[in-house]
Amino acid sequence: MDPAKLVINDNEYELPVFAGSEDEVAVDIRKLRAQSKVVTYDPGYGNTGSCESSITFIDGEKGILRYRGYSIEELAEKSSFVEVCYLLIHGELPTEVQLDIFKHKLTHHSLLHEDMKKFFEGYPASAHPMSVLSAMVASLAAYYPESDDPSDLDLNVIRLIAKLKTIAAFSYKKSIGHPYVYPRNDLSYTEDFLNMMFAVPAEAYNSPDLLALTLDMLLILHADHEQNCSTSTVRMVGSSGADLFASISAGISALSGPLHGKANQEVIDMLERIQADGGDYNKYIEKAKDKNDPFRLMGFGHRVYKNFDPRAKVIKKTADRVLSELGIRDPLLDIAKHLERVALEDDYFGERKLYPNVDFYSGILYRAMGIPTNMFTVMFAMGRMPGWIAQWIESKKDPDAKIHRPRQIYMGSTERHYRPIEQRG
Ligand code: SDX
Repeated sequence: MDPAKLVINDNEYELPVFAGSEDEVAVDIRKLRAQSKVVTYDPGYGNTGSCESSITFIDGEKGILRYRGYSIEELAEKSSFVEVCYLLIHGELPTEVQLDIFKHKLTHHSLLHEDMKKFFEGYPASAHPMSVLSAMVASLAAYYPESDDPSDLDLNVIRLIAKLKTIAAFSYKKSIGHPYVYPRNDLSYTEDFLNMMFAVPAEAYNSPDLLALTLDMLLILHADHEQNCSTSTVRMVGSSGADLFASISAGISALSGPLHGKANQEVIDMLERIQADGGDYNKYIEKAKDKNDPFRLMGFGHRVYKNFDPRAKVIKKTADRVLSELGIRDPLLDIAKHLERVALEDDYFGERKLYPNVDFYSGILYRAMGIPTNMFTVMFAMGRMPGWIAQWIESKKDPDAKIHRPRQIYMGSTERHYRPIEQRG
């Protein structure tokens, strides 16, 4: 493609231009500062490509999301979370033998080192599970130190996915003072998690497969989302040479923010607040539009999707079906639907292209499974784990990989000299 021409102070600079496999076009500015002493400026990196990646493609205008070329609609309908983990990490759907081996490894690495149970004893019952999760994942490095042997990394990838659900379930049991329920080798990934959480074997549920399959679908929909805040954090920490566990722990911390992964918890808190306030959703639509009111419509808006978030469409449809099959009537779902309808008819949201995102309806399903609200973001982390791992591994293989080190434009004081304290004031 023809280079871009940039004219600064009558000087013209040529910058290479290239396109990706989906015809996204980028201007390569890597040599701009060396040529011109000028840097680009893009707070929050909303218009900056940080890497080339082959893992996930998003078209925000068309509401397209694909993992390794497969649409999330197809994967949510036809695949399983464990199979999607394999796809994201290895780049291809597994053969039957590959999937069986992968499943066997995940099943047989789901136990925690018994000493790690002592960590849980130190946390107060009020500890947020995301704080516990981030600390426990970082601590895995103490038991499984990184080495130069590639087979160690392969095993640590398995350990992370396998042990995450155990850490999540143990942190929940500790918070309610219940005994830990250990992993069972005869249950699927999601059945085992639900059993460790509720000590009720999946077969005891009146709809055993429904809950496990619904959770499986939710984890698939959260599995990756290209260079979002937490994934960019995982890549940035990994760029320093930090190990996989430290990088993922940092990603968990980034996900814990209410503007990112914790939004799913904030949505339910918001819906419960509206319900407690008499269900007056119009009042809260007006609050969300009021610049002087810090209230935001949680679960609405997205940096990339300027049309519907395809994940929200699947989750909303699933919420209707699953609650109906379980015979649950959740008033929060009705409030959410009213909010969506009114917001989408309102110019404020239309002009800003604000639509429901992945977090708007997911909490309704987690509630139906009996998962407590403060565990919702942990569920997001469980889903996102294979994406973080795949992106971290890809960043390590990138021949152009460098330690992340953005520049800045300094706006502070110019040079000045020290004055003794008696001369200040
Ligand atoms: C996730 O990046 C990813 O891929 C993330 C994620 C993933 O899978 O990893 O998709 C997961 O994090 C989803 C987003 C979850 N967060 C929320 O639901 C929190 C509520 N949403 C927002 O705070 C906001 O929409 C963001 C953070 C999601 C996006 O913020 P942007 O792109 O920085 O947009 P902005 O804050 O600049 O807002 C643009 C305008 C502003 O109004 P004006 O100044 O132009 O008048 O839209 C307004 C904002 O005030 N706005 C909202 C709003 N979101 C944006 N107004 C009311 N309610 C909202 N939710």
